[in-house]
Amino acid sequence: MFSRPQFVALTVVLVLASLVLATSSKPREEVNYVEKRVPVAAFNNEKVIQADFFIRAQDDSNILLQMRNKRKPSTKKYSPDNVVLFVHGATYPSETSYDLVLGGMSWMDFMAMQGYDTYFINVRGYGDSTRPANTGEPIVRTTTAADDYATAVKYILRRRNISKMNIMGWSWGTSIATTFATNYPELTNRLVIYAPQWYRNFQTKVSGSYRNTTIEGRRASWLTGVAADKQNSIIPAGWYEIWESVTFAKALVNEKGVKYLSTPTGIVYDNNEYWFNSINIYNSTKLNMPVLVIRAEWDADLNIDMSLGYFKNLTQVPYKKFVQIPEGTHQVLLEKNRMALFREVQHFLTEEKTIPLAATDYDLDAIRN
Ligand SMILES: *[C@@H]1O[C@H](CO)[C@@H](O)[C@H](O)[C@H]1NC(C)=O
Ligand SMILES: *[C@@H]1O[C@H](CO)[C@@H](O)[C@H](O)[C@H]1NC(C)=O
Ligand SMILES: *[C@@H]1O[C@H](CO)[C@@H](O)[C@H](O)[C@H]1NC(C)=O
Ligand SMILES: *[C@@H]1O[C@H](CO)[C@@H](O)[C@H](O)[C@H]1NC(C)=O
Repeated sequence: MFSRPQFVALTVVLVLASLVLATSSKPREEVNYVEKRVPVAAFNNEKVIQADFFIRAQDDSNILLQMRNKRKPSTKKYSPDNVVLFVHGATYPSETSYDLVLGGMSWMDFMAMQGYDTYFINVRGYGDSTRPANTGEPIVRTTTAADDYATAVKYILRRRNISKMNIMGWSWGTSIATTFATNYPELTNRLVIYAPQWYRNFQTKVSGSYRNTTIEGRRASWLTGVAADKQNSIIPAGWYEIWESVTFAKALVNEKGVKYLSTPTGIVYDNNEYWFNSINIYNSTKLNMPVLVIRAEWDADLNIDMSLGYFKNLTQVPYKKFVQIPEGTHQVLLEKNRMALFREVQHFLTEEKTIPLAATDYDLDAIRN
């Protein structure tokens, strides 16, 4: 039989062989997975785990969808309540909204520090996700974006072995998130809708597959709707510049030397064909989970009637809440009052009784004492 050293050597070879087999028979689901620990200055440089990777789109394995995860190293238990996926709006990718470090932390950092397992996705055509071919036709309609979002949710549910999770979107992302939640109410724990799209009374000129957005005039349009005496204080010093440099870091440059972002036209076609004609993209009555609708007072991009329209159409939900943050624009997540937004979202996600209390739920004796 084998001498002891031979036996050890053979065992090592067998173990290695089975490891290779295991790896080759079950390839890692994520592509280009990179994990690192990053300090969060606002929390005494405590570290969060940041994982950057791509997943494959369900309809086409050549389309890679960019995702990021942030969590505290001590977060090891996952439940429908502490897992959340965010999605961007029509023009800028998720990392320059949800994970932009301002004042020592991003929104993602803040949630991670409170024990959340927090993710973002860039749907196809946004951020570093695969850019679909320029066919001259509209690309990445809301329904396509919602399918990419669903691919990400299903991936996270497998990764954390949970049955449902929290769903969050901003601006166009509210339509992506709501379309997802109407397609998969059973996978949706709670729905956070920040500055929803709704019926609108104007159309926007558009053609082809991609549209260009330059920095020019961006600061002025950001501040539309803000009282003149508040325009200098609503964005803390230096924050706009950080947003601009990160957002346009990978921008293209045109013949005139002007930086521009090139993004899919699908959202604009949807605005013109659906929302302008008072046609909803999804069926709100399919929503059956708690919903938070939150917006800022001076949002001139998506007005309060849109938020209220969205809210009033939530006729089948067990619980809904409407919150307005004072002194903020469409971008309040990047402004001086962003903590009010973060706190309200967190409060909603942790509220215990999201079912309206029945008369018998009140312990009047306890209240009197
Ligand atoms: C996944 O969760 C189910 C139900 O909670 C549990 O029974 C199962 O053991 C878990 N699987 C893994 C691999 O943790
Ligand atoms: C976007 O800008 C590039 C570079 O100037 C140009 O080639 C392209 O035609 C522009 N696209 C649109 C839709 O204007
Ligand atoms: C919306 O969904 C509800 C519930 O599933 C259904 O009864 C209703 O017919 C749908 N409405 C439309 C316009 O599809
Ligand atoms: C849904 O919203 C539209 C437009 O805001 C409104 O006309 C309609 O009455 C709403 N439906 C319900 C059931 O609230």
